[in-house]
Amino acid sequence: MSTFPTDFLWGAATAGHQIEGNNVNSDWWTREQTSPGMALSLDACDSYHRYREDIALLAGVGLNAYRFSLEWSRIEPLQGHFSNAELAHYRRVIECCFEHGVTPVVTMQHFTAPQWFADRGGWSADGAAELFAAYVDRASSILDGVEWVVTMNEPNMQAAIMTAMRRMAESGGGWQSPTVDDRTDEERQRSSREFLAYADPEIGRMFVGIHHAARTVLKAKTSAKVGWTIAAQALTAAPGGEQKLAEMRYGKEDVFWEGSRGDDWVGVQAYSSQQVDAQGLVPHPIAPDNTLVGTAYRPDALAMAVRHAHEVTRGVPIMITENGIATADDEQRIRYTAEALAGLAETMNDGITVHGYLHWSLLDNFEWGHWEPTFGLIAVDRETFVRTPKPSLAWLGAVATNQGLS
Ligand code: BGC
Repeated sequence: MSTFPTDFLWGAATAGHQIEGNNVNSDWWTREQTSPGMALSLDACDSYHRYREDIALLAGVGLNAYRFSLEWSRIEPLQGHFSNAELAHYRRVIECCFEHGVTPVVTMQHFTAPQWFADRGGWSADGAAELFAAYVDRASSILDGVEWVVTMNEPNMQAAIMTAMRRMAESGGGWQSPTVDDRTDEERQRSSREFLAYADPEIGRMFVGIHHAARTVLKAKTSAKVGWTIAAQALTAAPGGEQKLAEMRYGKEDVFWEGSRGDDWVGVQAYSSQQVDAQGLVPHPIAPDNTLVGTAYRPDALAMAVRHAHEVTRGVPIMITENGIATADDEQRIRYTAEALAGLAETMNDGITVHGYLHWSLLDNFEWGHWEPTFGLIAVDRETFVRTPKPSLAWLGAVATNQGLS
């Protein structure tokens, strides 16, 4: 039996652009239309209008936390012009959580930015930190009573994307989705040594500065506990790969864990694990239980990631802000999550502080250019938006209610 503390947060996570629909002022809206082969987000899950139903379904099975993101491009559709109506909308989402006894975990930025921000050069342009801090300052006005705030989601994936885009621009290529593309499983395995495996540490240091500036604003304006969330890769060294592992992991991960020292908490997001040899990432074998995004079935990745985060952050308290599996087989989702939670309980028994577990994702949603990889505890009809909970939703609710799993 694995048991968890009585005040443990149990819930699920989403992100604005992946569920809301019609985020017409965001850079991703443009990217979808200009990248061949990429599906459009369009209405997404229509959660902009149906958030009450989503939160009620989550609370109805006994979950007590919901992570969602504010969409910067809605709140500041034109530089310096803030929408009071959109701020009021997000305040209603927060209030809806409170009404259901659900603790909101609010992300200020989850992969998307306003198109105007992208047009002026994005994160690496002069003044980017100040512009993000100005948005965070304005949005902090709706965070009364919110205890957990994330400045940015996976800045390390954003850094890897920037690094990959630079490389592709140099070689004349185009954009590819961060998590999945149109190649066959075998083709993806072969090129996985390259794709998004690296991030320039300079870009990482720039993001640390942006995060710290946003953190300063949030600490001054709210009483929230502030952190950011990092994509943990749970990399291990194959024989002879130790040096390459350290080098790859520094730019893609450790510079960000180091950047969270001094934060109130850090979000760990883990899905799978992979080996590194002297050349780089070792393609893992094609296996029947590989996920719909081509990664290996590795529920042990979560505990590996938590131990690594604990070590490099030097003990910053942790929350699992994403963990899940892209699968059409809900039995496999339950099996994966049970194994991941058992490993998580062991890390906590060893003395690591973990405040909660938020499954990715509440809904089958827009997976950055694709609809096929289904991560949700709830299926969503793409035409009618009717929500159909999968058995895994009630299963996770029961784990929450029992404060553990046998
Ligand atoms: C991101 C999510 C994404 C998930 C599954 C994370 O990298 O934060 O937006 O959908 O992984 O790929």
